[in-house]
Amino acid sequence: MSETVEVKIGGETYSFEVIEGSEGEKAFNILPLRKESKFITLDPGYGNTGSCKSSITFLDGEKGILRHRGYAIEDLAAHASFTGVAYLLLYGELPNEEEHTTFDNLIRANYALDDEIIKVIDAFPENGHPMAYLSAGLSAMSALYPYYGDESESGHDMALIQILAKIASIAAYSYRKSEGKSLIPADPSLDYASNFLHMMFGDEEEDEAFKRVRAETLDNLLIIHADHEQNCSTSTVRMVNSSNANLYTSISAGIGALWGPLHGGANQAVMEMLESIHQDGGDTERTMDRAKDKSDPFRLMGFGHRVYKTYDPRARIAKAGADAFLTKLGMNEPLIDIAMGLEKRALEDEYFVQRNLYPNVDFYTGIIYRAMKIPTNMFTALFAVGRSAGWLAHVVELKNDPDKRIGRPRQIYTGENARDYVAREDRA
Ligand code: SDX
Repeated sequence: MSETVEVKIGGETYSFEVIEGSEGEKAFNILPLRKESKFITLDPGYGNTGSCKSSITFLDGEKGILRHRGYAIEDLAAHASFTGVAYLLLYGELPNEEEHTTFDNLIRANYALDDEIIKVIDAFPENGHPMAYLSAGLSAMSALYPYYGDESESGHDMALIQILAKIASIAAYSYRKSEGKSLIPADPSLDYASNFLHMMFGDEEEDEAFKRVRAETLDNLLIIHADHEQNCSTSTVRMVNSSNANLYTSISAGIGALWGPLHGGANQAVMEMLESIHQDGGDTERTMDRAKDKSDPFRLMGFGHRVYKTYDPRARIAKAGADAFLTKLGMNEPLIDIAMGLEKRALEDEYFVQRNLYPNVDFYTGIIYRAMKIPTNMFTALFAVGRSAGWLAHVVELKNDPDKRIGRPRQIYTGENARDYVAREDRA
């Protein structure tokens, strides 16, 4: 007999089955709740609500643990490539050499952008935000590629590869477009990160050592952005795909959700915050005061997290990556000193300590991107490229989930009760 919990409502006792995950997390399945009791639960922001069972990523927010298919993010960042992690997320196991080569070659063969996609992005006004072009480019793929409507395994698998390959190329062209520059064609002889950077900066004279270190560092950053269980944008992708909407549109919706400054847009907001502190002469006190002032909507960007109540393990990797990148290239970046000073100040401050607010993945990544000569408005597009691997893995998992249902939450209505129709001018 499986474990149950009991809920007493109006003199009746209802019992619900307990579900336990492979890491000991527990939930009770409230599927019969409304039918039996007429009650629903209310959980704004879904902080206490599980939407699904998943075997892709495990987070422990109290211990700062992040694992993909059982592998610690620290190990993946140290030993794997981004395409190897994408394979792991999609298929559940790290690829052997032959599997990785086949997967990698399929991706390289699909880097190139079709003229129709280029025309969609060209139709946008110049100097727009790259995330606008990226979202449109993904949506346009659903008008272009045969998979849309082809539910065959091969059609679906091909669409996964196309999106993983082309999202970086569309992001790179989004950068070129936002700078008023022309397309640089893809180069399938290059690995994923190198081709992405080539399509962004390939027409610039750059030192080979800088290019190599930059590509290695970017590949590492894509890994730490690859997946993060049921975050806002991944839940959005799942919600859209739960109606059997096509893959491209589902990913395009995820891009929209990620753009928000409370989510993936935070890396851009962190840099804008650090730059304004720098312009203020490096004084962090005013920023700290604003972050704690309830009457001020300002948040300390890059700090706090719905799940992590300790240091985000990805922030630790990004901080070390920033140090290594700047040291290897002998670069001096005043913003990293400001960021470290702000972190130290916040971690000693009662307001932050009491609320378990620590640096998250977005706090240090912008510093590395800036040192790579990537403009601030591209930071969230880089996040989307990395996260595309996770979004795709969750779509595959949802497709094969025996519990799959179209997402449709309920509500508690608080509006007007029934009233007769009386035209406004006839009212007393
Ligand atoms: C990402 O979910 C994921 O996994 C996301 C992500 C991923 O990989 O997909 O990890 C990526 O989105 C990271 C988060 C990036 N966003 C930011 O850095 C923006 C700044 N952070 C906050 O806006 C906030 O911390 C959130 C949005 C990240 C989390 O918000 P929650 O879980 O809704 O927390 P909350 O707003 O309920 O905060 C609890 C308290 C509140 O104060 P009290 O009402 O208790 O007095 O903490 C305060 C908040 O005011 N607070 C902050 C703060 N974050 C929370 N106060 C100042 N600065 C902050 N950054």
